[in-house]
Amino acid sequence: MLVLGIESSCDETAVALVDDGRLVLERLATQEAVHAVFGGVVPELASREHLRLLPHLGREVFAATGVRPEDLDGIAVARGPGLLGSLLVGLGYAKGLALAAGVPLVGVNHCQAHLLAAGLEAELPLPAVGLLVSGGHTQLYRIGADLRFELLGLTRDDAAGEAFDKVAKLVNLPYPGGRHVDELSRQGRADPKRFARPLLEPGSLDFSFSGLKTAVAQAVAEHPGFVLGHMALPEQGAPPRAEDMLADMPAGQRQALCDLLASFSLAVVETLVIKTRRAVERVRQQAAGEMPRGLIAAGGVAANSLLRAKLAELAQDMGLQLLLPRPALCTDNAAMIAHAGWRLLRRGLRHDQRLEAVPRGRVVPEDFVVSAGECR
Ligand code: KG4
Ligand code: ZN
Repeated sequence: MLVLGIESSCDETAVALVDDGRLVLERLATQEAVHAVFGGVVPELASREHLRLLPHLGREVFAATGVRPEDLDGIAVARGPGLLGSLLVGLGYAKGLALAAGVPLVGVNHCQAHLLAAGLEAELPLPAVGLLVSGGHTQLYRIGADLRFELLGLTRDDAAGEAFDKVAKLVNLPYPGGRHVDELSRQGRADPKRFARPLLEPGSLDFSFSGLKTAVAQAVAEHPGFVLGHMALPEQGAPPRAEDMLADMPAGQRQALCDLLASFSLAVVETLVIKTRRAVERVRQQAAGEMPRGLIAAGGVAANSLLRAKLAELAQDMGLQLLLPRPALCTDNAAMIAHAGWRLLRRGLRHDQRLEAVPRGRVVPEDFVVSAGECR
């Protein structure tokens, strides 16, 4: 079953072709260079870039695979949550292509697609507890064997990736700063007592990262030398290396900055791991026969080296099979959209041309049109 996936919910424009759930080819263009200097995504610029790039990427996928639009068994598009203007560009492209080629269309929940991305490479160990940690979301789910998603907890303010990006911005590292903070943290010594773990009320599965970001802001205010004199912007093709950005900083100061970032990273990661452990315990207590087998982490922050290591320890300790997509499948991509769309389409679930985009903060409805006789 050939499914084309389209992703345009934030600052990555991507088109991918999946055959029976496995990736055939993806073309992805990141807008990092466009937004880097602003310290975050500028929605208007993002929409324009999607509009400019999407038809080219689509044409490239068709040309490189020799597949024609009318050969497709379906077109899957990220319909939300995301930036509304950006989603509308993807939806317009997907609807036009579906109409012209006469193939089914299905709208995909971007968050669920992240958590299913690991299914591109391996069997999903379901039922599972899913941790979604991206720039826009920090959520814990119970994922049933029937692929039903039950939200267990979510952030009440900043997402984990947003906290990484804001901390990076405090010291003038370019957007998206998560991977720079990760790289520099590996060179630092983390002090586990330096920052509190924001755990909220006893037993809560929700998150709150804005206080942690403020604590780092205070530390930076006390050490103005931590702020880089100029922001290193991405060159065409090659993202800047955090190590090079700190080249001019005196060695002692540089080490102190790495230590601060390492302590921050540890606080975020430990908080995520403590809540994930709690979620597994909660699901085990409530499980009626269906014990969770797997732990699935996804989203851009799941590329974080410390989080990957700590989740591996947690999974081993709790007897769960850990599924972590490779880093390129953790950040936004169209392969995950095509894969999630394939799972829906093969069950006979689809949308028609009335499919609507859902902005961040609103629940994505399960408003599928079920084709009679096709539902499995
Ligand atoms: O999933 P994603 O590509 O986009 C959203 O749907 O939000 O996630 C992007 C987020 C950014 O906040 C980025 O800084 C963060 O993931 N990120 C990381 C790492 N790589 C990407 N955060 C921490 N460590 C990393 N290695
Ligand atoms: Zn995402």
